[in-house]
Amino acid sequence: MKVIRTRSEMRRIVKEAQAAGRTVGLVPTMGFFHEGHLELMRRASECDVVVVSLFVNPTQFGEGEDLSDYPRDFERDCEMAENVGVDYIFAPEPEEMYPEGFATGITVEKMSDMMCGAFRPGHFSGVATVVAKLFNIMPADRAYFGRKDAQQLAIIKAMARDLDFDMEIIGVPTVREDDGLAMSSRNTYLDAEEREAATVLHRALESAVAMVENGERDPEVLRSVVSATIESEPLAHLEYVDICDNIYLRPTAELEGEILIALAVRIGRARLIDNVILRIE
Ligand code: PAJ
Repeated sequence: MKVIRTRSEMRRIVKEAQAAGRTVGLVPTMGFFHEGHLELMRRASECDVVVVSLFVNPTQFGEGEDLSDYPRDFERDCEMAENVGVDYIFAPEPEEMYPEGFATGITVEKMSDMMCGAFRPGHFSGVATVVAKLFNIMPADRAYFGRKDAQQLAIIKAMARDLDFDMEIIGVPTVREDDGLAMSSRNTYLDAEEREAATVLHRALESAVAMVENGERDPEVLRSVVSATIESEPLAHLEYVDICDNIYLRPTAELEGEILIALAVRIGRARLIDNVILRIE
């Protein structure tokens, strides 16, 4: 496995691989790998060459958010990536990605201001802009993203469609701990008691799934049950529960088609998100 630091070298490697008839899979990350990241890399191994980008993107963190103490362990990340067969890690410095005078931004309108966007103004423009840059630096055949970040995935798919990126965007199911907690680099912020409390996210979503399986079709009823479950946990502070279609993220009055139930909860200093996707005939 090779670590690449510059945009020019990275682009050359991807283009040469493709010119030689090899397919390239890209996995964008901010590092501090866990099984969720590794699962994306394993899925990407269906391509001939796997490139992982590791860049803690400053422009997607708001003021007062956790940019400065976002967990990092580059050596360990490299070892883990190498063990699952990654070929290249693209790990640029912030100055390489955002040189003096950088001024362009991408905003996916209508999808970026609600749900997590309402609590993290500018976050999804930071994400869309850095992902567009990564797609141009590494014009891979396929790019892999986790469904855990459902709004991010929907926004990236919209951006790729709207701006004609010639890349297949693949959503990979959420990898969970044994007790259902979605894996996240931010789970390291939880102490033992908070870690126990954090199981409430998955439990709340599972109760909504069970209700839908039993015939419930009113989004407001589902929303109130999920909220009540979260609020029954004293350490959990609910930011939002949203029920919408999983493509354009529009609120739905009726539960039909591919429906996303997504939530964000604060526990201690961690902000945790989770979701379920339901297919309803
Ligand atoms: P990061 O939080 O490091 O996540 C990298 C990728 O791993 C994302 O696509 C995310 O959805 C996926 N992922 C995280 N936890 C997962 C889990 N438990 N199961 C499955 N996939 C999981 O998301 C980002 O970085 C950044 O916003 C980025 C897209 C790299 C842009 O900076």
